[in-house]
Amino acid sequence: MRLRNIPEAYPAVEKSPYCIKDANLIKGSWKELDWVKGKKALHIEIGMGKGNFIIGMAGAHPDIAYLGIERYESVLYKALLKLGDDFPDNLRFLREDAGLLTEFFDHEEVERIYLNFSDPWPKERHAKRRLTHHGFLDKYHSVLPMGGCVEFKTDNEGLFDFSLEEIKETKGWELLTVTRDLHNDPALCEGNIMTEYEEKFSSLGHPIYKLIAKTC
Ligand SMILES: C[S@@+](CC[C@H](N)C(=O)[O-])C[C@H]1O[C@@H](n2cnc3c(N)ncnc32)[C@H](O)[C@@H]1O
Repeated sequence: MRLRNIPEAYPAVEKSPYCIKDANLIKGSWKELDWVKGKKALHIEIGMGKGNFIIGMAGAHPDIAYLGIERYESVLYKALLKLGDDFPDNLRFLREDAGLLTEFFDHEEVERIYLNFSDPWPKERHAKRRLTHHGFLDKYHSVLPMGGCVEFKTDNEGLFDFSLEEIKETKGWELLTVTRDLHNDPALCEGNIMTEYEEKFSSLGHPIYKLIAKTC
């Protein structure tokens, strides 16, 4: 994602009551937070961008608590602006790097992880930065319960193939679902909420790839 520095983004994110602060202090007690308590589960999106997906999911599933994670405040700020004070009570944002995930969440604190159109990092020497690299899969495994899921969508075939291999080769993961044309798969597409990148690339005629993997 091309980034433009927005000077007002940092103070806006810092003072927003909808952006979680000091997530490491919440580790082990997410389910006690007012906006999570009483919900069926906590689902997170890593790399939420401007938030279309997670905002849509929070509206469609009021019984689930959603946390959108994005590492750049200039991007997160756009999602904050979209909502203003009309913020769903089951949704919060976190400006952090997913590499720190296990500092924020204990084992079994998150039931589902969404990765949407993650940065492909095409150079081999950057493979570790891909959000489906086994280093990240191990972190996801640490915070999910047995049977917890990762759902991944992309238009990038190379990243998708890499992700399939990583899941097959990494201990503790089982592939549940794979499609190379999500938008032409009526069953898998039911309830699909499009991300900003998904709208852009599908309108250009790119097929959308999706996989779901669970911990075992
Ligand atoms: C290509 S954009 C996709 C945005 C959105 N998910 C979509 O589908 O439209 C990838 C986003 O992931 C964020 N991101 C990449 N690596 C991250 C990490 N390690 N932790 C948190 N966010 C990350 C980037 O800043 C960027 O906003």
